[in-house]
Amino acid sequence: MHILSPQLSKEHSLPLYVQLYEQIKHDIINKSLPVGSKLPSIRDLSKHLRISRNTVETAYQQLLAEGYITSRPKSGMYVKELELDVLQQETKPFPYQHTKNTPILDGPEIDFEYGSIDMNAFPMKLWKKYSNQAYKQEMEEAKSYGHHKGENHLRREIARYLYHARGVRCSAEQIIITSGTQHSLNLLCETVFKNCDQFAIENPGYDRARYIFENHRFMVTPISLDEDGLCTDDLRNSNAKIVYVTPSHQYPCGMVMPFKRRLELLQWAGETNGYIIEDDYDGEFRYEGRPIPALKELDQHDKIIYLGTFSKMLLPSLRISYIVLPPRLLQSYSAAFEAYIPTVPRVIQNTLYYFMRDGEWDRHVRRMRLLYQKKHSVLVNALTKHLEEAAEIVGEKAGLHLLIKVNSQLGEQALIEMAAAAGVRVYSIEKYRIQQSTDGKPLLLLGFSKMPIDQIEDGIKRLKEAWFA
Ligand SMILES: Cc1ncc(COP(=O)(O)O)c(C=O)c1O
Repeated sequence: MHILSPQLSKEHSLPLYVQLYEQIKHDIINKSLPVGSKLPSIRDLSKHLRISRNTVETAYQQLLAEGYITSRPKSGMYVKELELDVLQQETKPFPYQHTKNTPILDGPEIDFEYGSIDMNAFPMKLWKKYSNQAYKQEMEEAKSYGHHKGENHLRREIARYLYHARGVRCSAEQIIITSGTQHSLNLLCETVFKNCDQFAIENPGYDRARYIFENHRFMVTPISLDEDGLCTDDLRNSNAKIVYVTPSHQYPCGMVMPFKRRLELLQWAGETNGYIIEDDYDGEFRYEGRPIPALKELDQHDKIIYLGTFSKMLLPSLRISYIVLPPRLLQSYSAAFEAYIPTVPRVIQNTLYYFMRDGEWDRHVRRMRLLYQKKHSVLVNALTKHLEEAAEIVGEKAGLHLLIKVNSQLGEQALIEMAAAAGVRVYSIEKYRIQQSTDGKPLLLLGFSKMPIDQIEDGIKRLKEAWFA
């Protein structure tokens, strides 16, 4: 692999990514970088040159688009044999290239990524301690796989937590431990819903849930949202009997479903003899008023299948989530799955059990709530201070992400690329929409759970510079 050492300068009138692109292109044309040579990975080069990954990525993308390099899946970028037309072509302009106002940055990349957690807050020491205990126990009990629904004592702890924290009344019997929310949905599709043909989902909504329904060849009916979340009138007009919803903090748009809409939804389920799948993925994080209990709290007629996860509070890579089934569905679940082996390793289940049993989980939840509350308020304050009228904040009352509706004539993609050129990553919600949106201002998603608190304001200032300077 060729280590590139281009001379980049912040004083130059061209942005760093254009300088980098020009120099690599120059090296390819004069064969200092011979055909077939491998370029350093984006990560390595950004480290080596101490510039952001976006800078390298944007330069590589341009070289790819112009045919100087090629990308080999799972291998990397390689210098291509140049065709005559590549050599003769004029350099295409970089999209949204700014030479005057865009700040030339080589500081840290600021990534408003959604879905990751603040690893500094993960209780590593305690987790290791309980994990050691769990391994010791495993050595004694390794001869069995464990219960197909998951470890009994862990399910009891989860039931206790759900009652105190989310207002959900259920027994350990009703809980099934799974390897993630998609796994939960998969199990439901294979068991209690195997004879159904149609699912209603929120639009925009959680794409990973939609894939599961589609892969099971169910008809998927998108239901629109209003400011209260899923429109129950539209749901009534569909023929669906099952709906997947995120009432505590609609994903991705962020509404918290108010009480009245919750009752309407339950009424729909009663009248149609239908079921509601409630995905309460980040309901623990609430920033205004008292925590809102789960929709399941109101479920007097056992119409709700509740989905929970440890990914947001603890660690996504643990792959541990759960289903709470209404008692009347337990039999059909067990009939299909009694002979199955649990998928979450017992060691992980038992580590989590010890963690919960000793009160560490409750302490951890309190700490995480405080931490994310702080990050949330720094982000909201920075948006209010720096983007004022330029962006409206949407869906900020709960969860680990919010959206901004940007007062700009540009499209979402253009804004994302301009932000990237300024070293900031913000995200589109396009992939969550079933139909392309035609209305209104660009809407962008900003996650804040992983973001170091002291980078938040800098990130928002850079967005202002990139979009409005
Ligand atoms: C809407 C929604 N549901 C559930 C999850 C969690 O999924 P899992 O339990 O598979 O980690 C996420 C994670 O980002 C999510 O966005």
